[in-house]
Amino acid sequence: MSIILAPSILSADFSRLGEQIEALEQGGADWIHIDVMDGHFVSNLSFGPFILPVVKKHTRLPVDVHLMVADPDALIPAFIAGGANWITVHVETCPHLYRTLQGIRVAGCKAGVALNPATPVESLREVVHLLDLVLVLGNNPGFSGQGWISEMGAKIGRVADFLKRAGSSAMIQVDGGMTAQTLPEAYQAGARVFVSGSAIFGHPNGIAEGVKSLRNVVG
Ligand code: DX5
Ligand code: ZN
Repeated sequence: MSIILAPSILSADFSRLGEQIEALEQGGADWIHIDVMDGHFVSNLSFGPFILPVVKKHTRLPVDVHLMVADPDALIPAFIAGGANWITVHVETCPHLYRTLQGIRVAGCKAGVALNPATPVESLREVVHLLDLVLVLGNNPGFSGQGWISEMGAKIGRVADFLKRAGSSAMIQVDGGMTAQTLPEAYQAGARVFVSGSAIFGHPNGIAEGVKSLRNVVG
């Protein structure tokens, strides 16, 4: 099965964001990953819903929103209104996760849950039937370029087993530390959607080559 590449614009050169988004599409990216950070759930601060019309001005690729915020319920309506195609919330920030996921799906958006490295797969049990995506963090969320926590390979395998036993068709997305060296292990474990920031935007031969370098690692 082919892979889905979702470059994170967190690593983009914001003085040339439009041009870089177009280069992502030219390089063959499948989705655009939007890392929303509020400076509370994670210690970094990125952007809010205003980023959606900027992205959509330069590509028609699906927009994949990753909410690393303390209160995702407050922001979800604006991202839905802005035309997000996927919205992923952190289980660690959702006391009413069942309702939050219902709200995303009833609005016609695909729904995902993200698990920080220490959060067990079991936390998905009661909402597995509401999931289109499970995001496994490959490192501690907040910044690009941090490297890969090697134990996350086995965790991806546990998520894959869990989803299979539950009869779920949700896809597994890995975000954080995905490079040409680490992506194969995540793929072998069952992931099919890959977020990458520094490996793409930092590629020596440019963004389009960065996308292609990841596409080629699993053939
Ligand atoms: C959460 C962010 C980062 C970023 C990926 O911390 O979501 O994981 O997108 O950054 P890289 O690919 O450079 O690890
Ligand atoms: Zn992300």
